[in-house]
Order: sequence, then C-alpha cells, then structure tokens
Amino acid sequence: MSAKAIFVMILVPVTILSGVYAQKAGDAAQGTLPYERFEQSDACASCHTDIAAQYEQAMMSQCFTHPWDEIEYFELALPHSNKEPKVSGIKAGCNGCHAPLAFLAGDIPPQRPSANTRANESVSCDVCHSMTGFVGDVPFNFNFTIVPGDTKQGTRLDGESPVHKIATNPFLHSAEFCGTCHNEKDPWGIWVKATHLEWKDGPYSKAGILCQDCHMPPAAGNSAPGMGVDRPDVRQHLFHGAHDTGKLTGSVEVRIHPDVRSSGPGEEVRLTATVVNAKAGHMIPSGSAEERVVWLHIEARDASGKTYHLKVDRKGFEGEELTIASASALAYQDIGDIKGLEGFPGLKRDGDVPEGDRIFRLPYLDPKGRMTVAQWNTASLGPDYRLAPLKAVNETYTWKLPETMAVGRVTITATVWYSRLVSSVAVFLKVPRDEYIPIKINAHETHIDVTR
Ligand code: HEC
Ligand code: HEC
Ligand code: HEC
Ligand code: HEC
Ligand code: HEC
Repeated sequence: MSAKAIFVMILVPVTILSGVYAQKAGDAAQGTLPYERFEQSDACASCHTDIAAQYEQAMMSQCFTHPWDEIEYFELALPHSNKEPKVSGIKAGCNGCHAPLAFLAGDIPPQRPSANTRANESVSCDVCHSMTGFVGDVPFNFNFTIVPGDTKQGTRLDGESPVHKIATNPFLHSAEFCGTCHNEKDPWGIWVKATHLEWKDGPYSKAGILCQDCHMPPAAGNSAPGMGVDRPDVRQHLFHGAHDTGKLTGSVEVRIHPDVRSSGPGEEVRLTATVVNAKAGHMIPSGSAEERVVWLHIEARDASGKTYHLKVDRKGFEGEELTIASASALAYQDIGDIKGLEGFPGLKRDGDVPEGDRIFRLPYLDPKGRMTVAQWNTASLGPDYRLAPLKAVNETYTWKLPETMAVGRVTITATVWYSRLVSSVAVFLKVPRDEYIPIKINAHETHIDVTR
C-alpha cells in the first residue's frame, strides 16, 4: 500500500472527524461566535429579492420579536430561570433556537426587542445557510454545527455567486436540518417539541416527502434575479404554519353522519364525526402543542330554529377528561408560582371552548401534575390525543331528541376550530388578540328528519 493511500485511509478521516468534533454545537456553542461573524439578512436581500421578501413574512424572521415570544421569554421563562435552579439553563437555551445570533455571541439574556440588538434577527438567512450538520444521532435542542463566513451552505451543484462561495451540502435537503430546532427536550428530559420525530414516525418520511417539500415547495424562477440562473425549481421560503390562516384552513377535515335518516321526539340518535389530518406531515397540533387548542364543536338546529349543543361521547381512555372541554376546570397554576402570586387559583384550562367539546391535544403537565403552557416546566405528558397524519378518528354523539322537539328537518353542523393559544392564558398575559381568536378551519353539515 502506498504512503499516500495510508494517508487517505487514516489521516483524512481523522482530520474530518476531528473537524466535526472540534465544532461546538448545542449548549456548548454558547458564546463562541461574535455577532460580527454573521451577515445581516438585509445584505442578502439586495440580490435574493424574492426569497428575502418571502422570508420577511415568515415567523422565523420574527421568532425573537413577535409579541407572544417576547412575553413568554421575558415575563415567564427568564424570571423562572432566575429562581428555579432546575430550569436555569433556559435563560440561554430559549435563544439557541429563537435568537441564535445572541446565543452564539453569548449575549445572554438578550435585551428586549425594543433595544434593537442583533438578537432581533431571529433565525436569519446566515444562520440557516451557515449550518453544516449536527452532532449526535437525533437532531434537537439546536445541536447544529455552524460555520459562518464566505461560504454559504446550499444544495445545488452548479450555483455561482459574485460575493460568496457556495458549498453543496445535502444536510440542507434533510428533515434533520429542521429537526435541530423543531425537536426540543426540556430540563425534565421530556420531548416537548417533536415535529421532526413525529414526521419520522409517520407516513410522509416513508414516502420520502421532506419538511422542505411542503414548507419550501419548488417553483420556476430565479433566486438572484439578473445574476442567477433561471431554474424550474427554486425553493420558496414560505414556511407557512400555524400563523397562516390559509395554511390552517382545511388542514383538518371533518364529515358527520347520523345512524338513522329519520327519528321521533324522545328517541335516541347517534351521530359519528370523522376527523382527519390529511395535509400535515406531523401531528396537528405539532411543535407548540402546549399552547394550541384544536376542537370539534357539534350543533343541531331544529325546524323551529332552536339550537342544541351536542356533547361528545366518552371513550374511556386514561386521562380522557383532559381532552374534553370543561367550563370549570382550572390549570396553569405554575404561572402564579413563577410570578409569585399568592393564592393564584389558576386560569380556565380550556379557555372559552364550550363544555363537552372534544379537544385534540397533548396535555403538558408541570411537576405537580397540573396542565401548563410552560413547556420547559413539563415533567410529564397526558394522553396524546392529537391528529396523526393520514389517520382518521371517529367521535360519536349520542343524542336523545327532546320530547318537545319541532317536527321537520334538523341540521347538524360539525365545526373544527383552532386557536393558537389558550384564550384564558392569552388574556391574562395580555397577548395580542390575533394569537388566540378562534379560527374556523373546517365545517360540515348533515341532517335528520323528525317525524311524529
Ligand atoms: C451580490 C449578490 C448576492 C448577495 C449579496 C448574496 N448572494 Fe447568495 N447568491 C447569489 C447568486 C448570483 C447565486 C447563484 C444563484 C443561482 O445559482 O441561480 C447565489 C446563491 C446562493 C445560495 C444558493 C446555494 C445553492 O443551493 O446553490 C445561497 C444559499 C445563498 N446564495 C445565500 C446567500 C446569503 C445567506 C446571503 C447573505 C448573507 C447571500 N446569498 C448574499 C448572489 C448573491
Ligand atoms: C430556516 C432556514 C432557512 C432560512 C431562514 C433561509 N433559508 Fe434559504 N434555504 C434553506 C434551505 C433548507 C434551502 C434548500 C432547500 C432544499 O434544497 O431542499 C434553501 C435554499 C436557498 C437558496 C437556493 C434556492 C434554490 O432552490 O435555488 C437560496 C438562494 C437561499 N436559500 C437564500 C436565502 C436567503 C437570502 C435567506 C434570507 C432572506 C434565506 N435563504 C433564509 C433554509 C433557509
Ligand atoms: C435555528 C432554528 C430553526 C431551524 C433550523 C428551523 N426552524 Fe422553523 N422555527 C424556528 C422557531 C424558533 C420558530 C418559532 C417561530 C415563532 O416564534 O413563532 C419556527 C417556526 C417555524 C414554522 C411555524 C410558522 C408558523 O406560522 O407558526 C414553520 C412552518 C417552520 N418553522 C418550518 C421550518 C422548516 C421547514 C425548517 C427546515 C427547512 C425549519 N423550520 C428550520 C426555528 C428554526
Ligand atoms: C405533507 C406536508 C407537510 C410535511 C411533510 C411537513 N409539514 Fe409542517 N405543516 C404542514 C401543514 C399543512 C401545516 C398546517 C397545520 C398545522 O399548523 O398543524 C403544517 C404546520 C407546521 C408547523 C406549525 C405547527 C404548529 O402546531 O404550530 C410547523 C412548525 C411545521 N409544520 C414544521 C414542519 C417540519 C419541521 C417538518 C419536517 C420534520 C414538516 N413541517 C413537515 C404540512 C407539512
Ligand atoms: C429546540 C429549539 C427551541 C427551544 C430551545 C425553544 N423554542 Fe420556542 N419554539 C421553537 C419552535 C421550532 C417553535 C415553533 C413551533 C411550532 O409552531 O410548531 C417555537 C415556538 C415558541 C412559541 C410560540 C410561538 C407562537 O407564536 O405561537 C413561544 C412563545 C416560544 N417558542 C417560546 C420559547 C421559550 C420561552 C423558550 C425557552 C423556555 C423556548 N421557546 C425554547 C423552538 C424552540
């Protein structure tokens, strides 16, 4: 064997591996890269005009400045990290994903968005396009490796730019790339965000459909108009999710049918609603599941115009009570502990969701077993009753028609509602209304005829 072959066999892998391991990722990367090492997204916008304009409208350009993010970090997480040693790591950790530049620069805690520091750049162009890979087997808790500089990480073999070099890196065309921030394990060792893991377990990963295929679909165009190449498949930087009403609308489908077409007052009718997540590559809700509320509301209207609210039949699984709306249940008492509010009773667990409606959720439970929206304070999880991709769920409604019911047609409507944040928590913490107004994401109607 030649000396050169030995060099290639031994030294090259060692050099590559030590290069990877020398690079700090996750918690260890805090304070390793000053702000100046990263370019601002505005600098990229001068050439990449359309991509920049799309990105500015996506949540990832605002994940440090957006009002609810500011409120949760500065009014709950930061004070909690200062008084509870178990969660002290979140003071820096939240920023690993929401303000990566501040985290990497060691600017912890960052100042509020009003101070206009570079933390405000959130997940910038240069953050994503400097990511080279990740450390370990599972992507989570910002365990990406990052090398800012002249070379931008991309996926094409033939891109050429006058101002920067391009590295062809298949990592950017992988779900793991997104998973470095879209999977999160909290200080209690609980997976409190698992969008990538849900995807990996589900039908879309098996079909080879990546996050990028749905959230960055390719379209014909030019990524750097006037300079770049016209291509049939330029990756769009849309990143639509729960903050895009259009993306939410129709993401959950519903159909409802009765077991009989006609019935009489005093008799029992059974309705079945079939609900399915036929569009998302992960659970609905995913990611911030601790704060989203997705529920199914059934209402009947008789021939005289009188309306009746139907309550869901119980299935009897463990923890089911947490998935059926209650007007009296309280939760979120840990907000009182964090804010030092003596005798704080908690807030309405289900906000304004009508009593008896089914809620598709994964309850996050604090160390005392109470529901929480503080994902970092989650010591266990309740039953996972969310909507898995391409799996339908049937909910039944057994309804004894009132003796006094008018004869004629009864119309039954099933409506799927979505709220980004439990309304009681939002009102208490003064989060803007946009974050919690109920959004109607689907509806369907059926009927029965009431005869004497
Ligand atoms: C002076 C114009 C200019 C500026 C400024 C600029 N780029 Fe580019 N960039 C280009 C051109 C031209 C291409 C090649 C486009 C093509 O292949 O069609 C390119 C390609 C890329 C690619 C594509 C890689 C691939 O998959 O082929 C990435 C990623 C990229 N730029 C990121 C950035 C980032 C991030 C910034 C800001 C920090 C930036 N660029 C600033 C001109 C620019
Ligand atoms: C959340 C991470 C993320 C952010 C933020 C981001 N990009 Fe990208 N970008 C990607 C990924 C991933 C790809 C490659 C997708 C693929 O090939 O599957 C990509 C592709 C590109 C391309 C090549 C497009 C093509 O198909 O030819 C350019 C150019 C680019 N990005 C520039 C930018 C600029 C400029 C910004 C900021 C205005 C930006 N990106 C923000 C993740 C990101
Ligand atoms: C550096 C960390 C990071 C990476 C890498 C990353 N994200 Fe995100 N992403 C975030 C954060 C933080 C948010 C939360 C934004 C907010 O505050 O609402 C987010 C939000 C989103 C949203 C939700 C938008 C909404 O409307 O609520 C989508 C969709 C999304 N990301 C898709 C992706 C995809 C697809 C990729 C991979 C191509 C990716 N992200 C990579 C950090 C990241
Ligand atoms: C088959 C298409 C598809 C695939 C694949 C897919 N998504 Fe989604 N995603 C959607 C749809 C549709 C929604 C809107 C419904 C919703 O918000 O749950 C969504 C919503 C989201 C949200 C907001 C969820 C919430 O509850 O706040 C995030 C974040 C997200 N996707 C990230 C990802 C990441 C990361 C991957 C890859 C691991 C991925 N998506 C794969 C279609 C897809
Ligand atoms: C591992 C990365 C990661 C860490 C660490 C992280 N987040 Fe997030 N955060 C995300 C992603 C990704 C989303 C978007 C999830 C989705 O929409 O499905 C998000 C969403 C949010 C949202 C909801 C945004 C909205 O508009 O609905 C808030 C608020 C938030 N995070 C605050 C925090 C706080 C406070 C911490 C620290 C205790 C923290 N995050 C830690 C990645 C992270």
